[in-house]
Amino acid sequence: MKISIVGAGAVGASCAEYIAIKNFASEVVLVDIKEDFAEGKAMDLMQTASLNGFDSKIVGSTNDYSKTAGSSIAVITSGIPRKPGMTREELIGINAGIVKSVSQQLIKYSNDVILIIVSNPMDTMTYLTYKETGLPKNRIIGMGGALDSARFKYRLAEAMDCPSSDIQGMVIGAHSDKGMVPLTRLATRNSIRISEFLSDDRLQQVLEDTKVGGATLTGMLGTSAWYAPGAAVSSLVQAIACNQQKMFPCSVFLEGEFGLNDLCIGVPVILGKNGIERIVEIDLNDTEINQLKQSANSVKATNLLLADLQL
Ligand code: LAC
Repeated sequence: MKISIVGAGAVGASCAEYIAIKNFASEVVLVDIKEDFAEGKAMDLMQTASLNGFDSKIVGSTNDYSKTAGSSIAVITSGIPRKPGMTREELIGINAGIVKSVSQQLIKYSNDVILIIVSNPMDTMTYLTYKETGLPKNRIIGMGGALDSARFKYRLAEAMDCPSSDIQGMVIGAHSDKGMVPLTRLATRNSIRISEFLSDDRLQQVLEDTKVGGATLTGMLGTSAWYAPGAAVSSLVQAIACNQQKMFPCSVFLEGEFGLNDLCIGVPVILGKNGIERIVEIDLNDTEINQLKQSANSVKATNLLLADLQL
C-alpha cells in the first residue's frame, strides 16, 4: 500500500518515520515545496531502515505530485505551524489556499485516495477540503482528537502516577484551545472511573492542561509539536490501511449527528478500509452536549472566515 504525506516538516517527517517503523506500508512518499527537502528527509529516514528493521520504501519529491499516483491514503500537513502565542485559527489566511491546492493535486493522481488533514485550523481545513473536493465524507478525515486524547491520557497518567497504557479516555470537539471537550466522566483507569483516583481540583487541572497541550509545547519549543502529532496520524493511517475497525475521535462532516450540521468537528468514529466506517453517536449528558455545541459554534465562526478568503 502506498501512502503519501504532503509537507516534509517535523510533523510530516515524524509521521513518515512512525509509519515506516510500523512496517505496514510498501511505499511512503514525502512531498514538499522546498527544493530537495523531502528527498533529503526520505534519504535520512531510509538510512534508518537497516537499524530500525523496516521494509517500507520512503521516497521524497519536490512538489511533483505524479510521484503520489496510486496512493490509498494521503496526509496533508502543509502550511505554516503556530508560533508561540498564536492560536491555530490565526493560520487560516495562509493555510486555506495551500490545503485547497494540495488536496486537488492529490486527487488528480489518486482517484480513490482517503485524505487525512492535519494542517491548522484543522476542523476548518477539513471542512474546506470536504467542500472543495466533493469527495464522499468517509474519505475526508481531520486529525486532532487522536492527538488531544493522547495528551489527555498523558495528563491523567501524570496525575495518577501510572503508565498511560492504564488509561482509557477521549477528547471530542474542536482541535482548539477553547473547543476541546475531554470526556472526563467516561475516562477510566483499567475500567475504574478516574473520579475514584483524582480530586475535582486535580481533575480540573488535567482538563486545563489537556486543552492547552499544543500551546504549552509551542511555547517550549518555539514551534508546534511533532512527535505526538506524527504518532497520532500514523495510528489513523494504520487503522485504515490494516482495516482495523478501530475507534478514534476524528473531525468528520456531520449531518445531524449529535444535533450538529454542516461542519467538521471531532466525534468518535470507527476507522477501517473505507476511511470513516461510521460515526458512533455515544450518549452524552447535557453538560457535554452543551460543551460540544459551544465548540461547534466556534468552529462555524472560523468556517465563515473562509468566505472572505480569495481561494
Ligand atoms: C498540535 C498541532 C498539531 O496540537 O495542532 O500540536
